[in-house]
Amino acid sequence: MLGVGIAVLDLVNEVEVYPAEDDEVRALALRRVRGGNVTNSLAVLSRLGHVCRWVGTLGDDPAADLILADLAGHGIETGDAVRVSGGTTPTSSILVSRTNGSRTIVHFRDLPELSAEDFGRASLDGLAWVHFEGRNPQETARMIRRVRKEAPDVAISVELEKHRPGIEALLHGPQLLLASRAFARAGGFEDPGDFLEDLLMRSDARLCVVARGAQGAAFLKRGGHVQRVSAYVPTRVVDTLGAGDVFNAGVIHGLLKGLPDGEAVVQAVKLAGLKCGHPGIVMERESPPISD
Ligand code: FRU
Repeated sequence: MLGVGIAVLDLVNEVEVYPAEDDEVRALALRRVRGGNVTNSLAVLSRLGHVCRWVGTLGDDPAADLILADLAGHGIETGDAVRVSGGTTPTSSILVSRTNGSRTIVHFRDLPELSAEDFGRASLDGLAWVHFEGRNPQETARMIRRVRKEAPDVAISVELEKHRPGIEALLHGPQLLLASRAFARAGGFEDPGDFLEDLLMRSDARLCVVARGAQGAAFLKRGGHVQRVSAYVPTRVVDTLGAGDVFNAGVIHGLLKGLPDGEAVVQAVKLAGLKCGHPGIVMERESPPISD
């Protein structure tokens, strides 16, 4: 499994309730952890037993060391990552409200994105799957074309989290498109069915999935009809940070295991729901709820 996207230093402040503007409040806890969509998904996939590698850019600072140490701790290989000399590792200042688990993210980045040329140096040997974040569309489209050409049997997925100019370039090549509700809304869609039909029509993907937070998820495979999956709600929602990344990992895990599409989405919804009942991305003190 190869993941291509960002790694971030997350400064996660847990607060009792989300503060008002210009308030001054105390945090109940502070976590300085590695974040970033694709690396979050890889951490889960690695915990579920997949051999994982990450390719992306890092700064030239202590935050990058923390990220590399965390990824190594998860058994994720980072030999092809690009360290930008003099660069600053992206940082997110995050408030997680203990009242309802909401997460508010202020993301700072001033680091070059991974280029197709950088990606060209990463080996595609021995891969079953490549998962891309839907960012930097022109370059990422070139990376997808490289995988299609040089490793045609490798499955490709793309996360569509934000509507970025030129993102349509990423709709051709991947078999799996994993969209967020925000992405659907930015395209003018409230109804997940309408969104998925439009996305499937504009792409050549085999399967399109949209994560819908507390409303679960919906999916559509080519030649099929839209199906909805209800959310899995934990006893208490304490931390929704990265739930979408866990969901994406769950879908990929299910499909890699050979589950039918619907079952893969159902277990991904469950995994993301369980995550919301715990602080952090990977449930450290427990064995994974769903394993190979
Ligand atoms: C959660 C997350 C955080 C990171 C931010 C980047 O999905 O990946 O870990 O700071 O989003 O947008």
